[in-house]
Amino acid sequence: MKVTTTAGHFLLVLLASISHSVICSTSGNETDRLSLLEFKNAISVDPHQALISWNDSNHFCSWEGVSCSSKNPPRVTSINLINQNLQGNISPSLGNLTFLMHLSLVNNRLTRQIPSSLGRLRRLQSLYLSNNMLQGIIPSFANCSGLRKLWLDHNELAGEFPGDLPLGLEELNLSFNNLIGTIPSKLGNLKALKKFRCAFNDIDGTVPGELAALRGMELLSITDNRLSGGFPEVILNMSALVAFGLCYNNFSGELPSEANQFIGNIPSSFGNLQFLTTLTISRNNLHGSVPKEIFSIPTLAQLGFAFNNLSGELPAEVGNAKNLWNLQLSSNNLSGDIPDTLGNCETLQEVLLDENNFSGHIPTSFGKLIVLRLLGLSHNQLSGSIPASLGDLQLLQQLDLSFNHLTGQVPTKGIFKNSTAMRIDGNMGLCGGAPELQLPECPIRTSNKKCSEGGQVSTASDVFSFGVVLLELFIRRRPTDDMFKDGLSIAKHVEVNFPDRILEIVDPQLQQELDLCQETPMAVKEKGVHCFRSVLNIGLCCTKPTPSERISIQEASAKLHGIKDAYLREN
Ligand SMILES: *[C@@H]1O[C@H](CO)[C@@H](O)[C@H](O)[C@H]1NC(C)=O
Ligand SMILES: *[C@@H]1O[C@H](CO)[C@@H](O)[C@H](O)[C@H]1NC(C)=O
Ligand SMILES: *[C@@H]1O[C@H](CO)[C@@H](O)[C@H](O)[C@H]1NC(C)=O
Ligand SMILES: *[C@@H]1O[C@H](CO)[C@@H](O)[C@H](O)[C@H]1NC(C)=O
Ligand SMILES: *[C@@H]1O[C@H](CO)[C@@H](O)[C@H](O)[C@H]1NC(C)=O
Ligand SMILES: *[C@@H]1O[C@H](CO)[C@@H](O)[C@H](O)[C@H]1NC(C)=O
Ligand SMILES: *[C@@H]1O[C@H](CO)[C@@H](O)[C@H](O)[C@H]1NC(C)=O
Ligand SMILES: *[C@@H]1O[C@H](CO)[C@@H](O)[C@H](O)[C@H]1NC(C)=O
Ligand SMILES: *[C@@H]1O[C@H](CO)[C@@H](O)[C@H](O)[C@H]1NC(C)=O
Ligand SMILES: *[C@@H]1O[C@H](CO)[C@@H](O)[C@H](O)[C@H]1NC(C)=O
Ligand SMILES: *[C@@H]1O[C@H](CO)[C@@H](O)[C@H](O)[C@H]1NC(C)=O
Repeated sequence: MKVTTTAGHFLLVLLASISHSVICSTSGNETDRLSLLEFKNAISVDPHQALISWNDSNHFCSWEGVSCSSKNPPRVTSINLINQNLQGNISPSLGNLTFLMHLSLVNNRLTRQIPSSLGRLRRLQSLYLSNNMLQGIIPSFANCSGLRKLWLDHNELAGEFPGDLPLGLEELNLSFNNLIGTIPSKLGNLKALKKFRCAFNDIDGTVPGELAALRGMELLSITDNRLSGGFPEVILNMSALVAFGLCYNNFSGELPSEANQFIGNIPSSFGNLQFLTTLTISRNNLHGSVPKEIFSIPTLAQLGFAFNNLSGELPAEVGNAKNLWNLQLSSNNLSGDIPDTLGNCETLQEVLLDENNFSGHIPTSFGKLIVLRLLGLSHNQLSGSIPASLGDLQLLQQLDLSFNHLTGQVPTKGIFKNSTAMRIDGNMGLCGGAPELQLPECPIRTSNKKCSEGGQVSTASDVFSFGVVLLELFIRRRPTDDMFKDGLSIAKHVEVNFPDRILEIVDPQLQQELDLCQETPMAVKEKGVHCFRSVLNIGLCCTKPTPSERISIQEASAKLHGIKDAYLREN
């Protein structure tokens, strides 16, 4: 029988293609399929039905979030199930996915341990488990020689800082866990490390000198741990560093400065960090002065040294920082004039210099900071008048000039019209001001002199208004409040709450300032309460119903200065 070759050929091709497609649909590694099914089994709640397609009516390579290699048989190379709110735990069976390169389970609610079997995945390149509720210790990834990115942040991981990490690691993110122990000096062997975060843990000890070898480091965040020792000068070797954060630790000693860091001809100081944008070391115990080289870093955008014990002057070089938008130096011991050159940093949006010992005038050049949103100069020794140019700053949202020695007329433009956006209280020599802070305070005609310097003899009614304003400042009621219709009712209000219940009536914002720092020791808080009590007492002495009972304005002023000096001295 003669078979037509064309038809026979066609039949063969057809058969071959059918059998090929059958092979394809059943091909794929059985171990991979079973591993994935076990992973699904360990998920108890799947609110968005992310795993509904994980069933045998489709090939596992088409299951949601699963990707495979194109080779035959196809093998699982990637699992990506983010933002699914999956509950349950991570099955150890994933350790059988020999070809897995990428595993991301970010933003779920997975609990229990990270299976140690993941440490068998030699081809793994990125492991992203951020933002789950994973517990227990971090397993060893020393054998995952391909691992480049390890994100375990925002979990409940405990135990020691991992000691044996793969040498090729580029990103390590351990932030927001409960890790203890010290940063191992072996971390200095991970020469490829570019981003390292272990913020918000309980790591103690010092920053090992071996980290100086990490020349390629771009981001280093160790904020909120219990690290101590001198300022970690190893960061000065990291010339690629872009951001460095070590707030809320216990570093002490001096900040490095050019003078103590000359090596050959090259100043080994902050000036070496040519790409740095962010340097935050607030809330430590550092002293010494603000190194002027910092301001020659062309990229510097954020500088935070608040809550330390820095002294000396703010260098005039600050004016060289042409990209600086955030400058936080509050609660230090800086003194001298605020440099005029600060007005050259026209990108500044936030300037916080509160609670230092700055003296002299507020630079008029601040008027050039046209994008300034926040300016804090409270609790310094600033004198002179408030530059009217501050009223021209259209974007200024918060201004705190309280507790200085400012005198003269309060400007009337711009922010000075908004009493909730600014504070000028605690300046004895200011006149005018926004409605809520309306100082009637010039009751004493001292002609440009400070209150305590006397001047014309005041009348008993002057002292009464003085007392009322004093009470208003500390109680901070709306001017429309009934008790403002007659000064006696605010005095009565204070009197009935005095001395035991004053915290129920004192301006909550003032009280909050005492609590600014949660660690504020009880003794310091008590000093604050004592201060409130003393001031209110003076207010009461000034507002006695009969003029003869009232103290003199000089006496009131002298007492207030005494209270302030004692308060500043003790804190
Ligand atoms: C499936 O994968 C496992 C682990 O890689 C391997 O041991 C096994 O030989 C593979 N089976 C087939 C049929 O390829
Ligand atoms: C199996 O997966 C398909 C989607 O690929 C889905 O339509 C079907 O409902 C699933 N079957 C079961 C029993 O979940
Ligand atoms: C897969 O992984 C589990 C847990 O690690 C293990 O008990 C099992 O023997 C593995 N299966 C295969 C086929 O390798
Ligand atoms: C790493 O691999 C070696 C050699 O296979 C093995 O002896 C060791 O136990 C592995 N380590 C871990 C932590 O899995
Ligand atoms: C963890 O690190 C990665 C890479 O640096 C980053 O993208 C991620 O935002 C980090 N997570 C947190 C919470 O900082
Ligand atoms: C760190 O920098 C200093 C000064 O440039 C240099 O002497 C030292 O060898 C560097 N350390 C490392 C580990 O590179
Ligand atoms: C901070 O470090 C000093 C030693 O420099 C130590 O005495 C003190 O206990 C540490 N404080 C905290 C809160 O760890
Ligand atoms: C701040 O530093 C000075 C020395 O510059 C020192 O006398 C003082 O005790 C330090 N204050 C605090 C609170 O550490
Ligand atoms: C502030 O610094 C000066 C030196 O500039 C020092 O004499 C003084 O003790 C410091 N005050 C505090 C409270 O640390
Ligand atoms: C503030 O500086 C003055 C000198 O300008 C100094 O006498 C005073 O002790 C300093 N105050 C504090 C708290 O350091
Ligand atoms: C006053 O300032 C407050 C606080 O900055 C702000 O919320 C409010 O909108 C401002 N009011 C006006 C009229 O500008």
